[in-house]
Amino acid sequence: MALLEVTNITKRFGGLTAIKDVSVAIEGQTITAVIGPNGAGKTTFFNMITGFYTPDEGDILLDGKSIRGNRPDQVAAKGIARTFQNIRLFKEMTAIENVMIGMDTKLRSGLFGILFNLPHVKREEERVKAEAYRLLKYVGIEDIANTEAASLPYGVQRRLEIARSLAMNPKILLLDEPAAGMNPRETVELTEFIRRMRSELNLTIVLIEHDMKLVMDLSEHIHVLDYGQKIAEGSPEEIRNNQRVIEAYLGPGEAS
Ligand SMILES: Nc1ncnc2c1ncn2[C@@H]1O[C@H](COP(=O)(O)OP(=O)(O)O)[C@@H](O)[C@H]1O
Ligand SMILES: [Mg+2]
Repeated sequence: MALLEVTNITKRFGGLTAIKDVSVAIEGQTITAVIGPNGAGKTTFFNMITGFYTPDEGDILLDGKSIRGNRPDQVAAKGIARTFQNIRLFKEMTAIENVMIGMDTKLRSGLFGILFNLPHVKREEERVKAEAYRLLKYVGIEDIANTEAASLPYGVQRRLEIARSLAMNPKILLLDEPAAGMNPRETVELTEFIRRMRSELNLTIVLIEHDMKLVMDLSEHIHVLDYGQKIAEGSPEEIRNNQRVIEAYLGPGEAS
């Protein structure tokens, strides 16, 4: 059984069908890419898996159980974490505070403890902070732990989002254009890092990306969307040579 199974999902926005009857099965501990031209429906696809939108039709199964209709926080608690195409950090908070926010469901002490400054709350805060620092270190940006998120370079902000998404200790990590805005050197480092996360954290990774070198280097399996529909799936080799895929990217006239 696939770890994550999306069956025949459709999502409409008024008259526009952003995703039409798309099915995708993802095995555990694999790296899968979802590619396609701008507006193909890739982010909408992620938004449905992570509970930001509910599909109009179809189902989403995690470990064989439907998570359709779950809220984003419920999906996250079940082990699916994500990053955003348009980075979503708390800009005025420091890097480490952004990661601590991602962990706050683990802060059990609650308001009562904070108000009365109880010693176990202090200990819990210290523990959360240490764990957040460990995550920053894991993604390689612990040196900027106390820097305000807004003032960090783009590539560092993307790594920070990954650190925050790991704070929930996910099984599945969805990355929406993780290399966008990165220079070639950062992109190569990111490719290595994604591979490392998969093996060290036993993660299942699904990524949306336009950088074809990254996609081809990293993915074991690729799904191609075009105008909301899945037009191909296969290995990097199969996708590279797929005529429909070439046409979707180049336009039919140029792909003869
Ligand atoms: N919340 C929304 N309301 C209306 N239209 C949307 C919404 N989200 C996405 N769309 C539309 O759905 C289509 C697919 O968008 P998106 O999933 O962002 O594509 P991609 O990530 O592949 O570039 C686009 O035409 C986009 O304008
Ligand atoms: Mg998108």
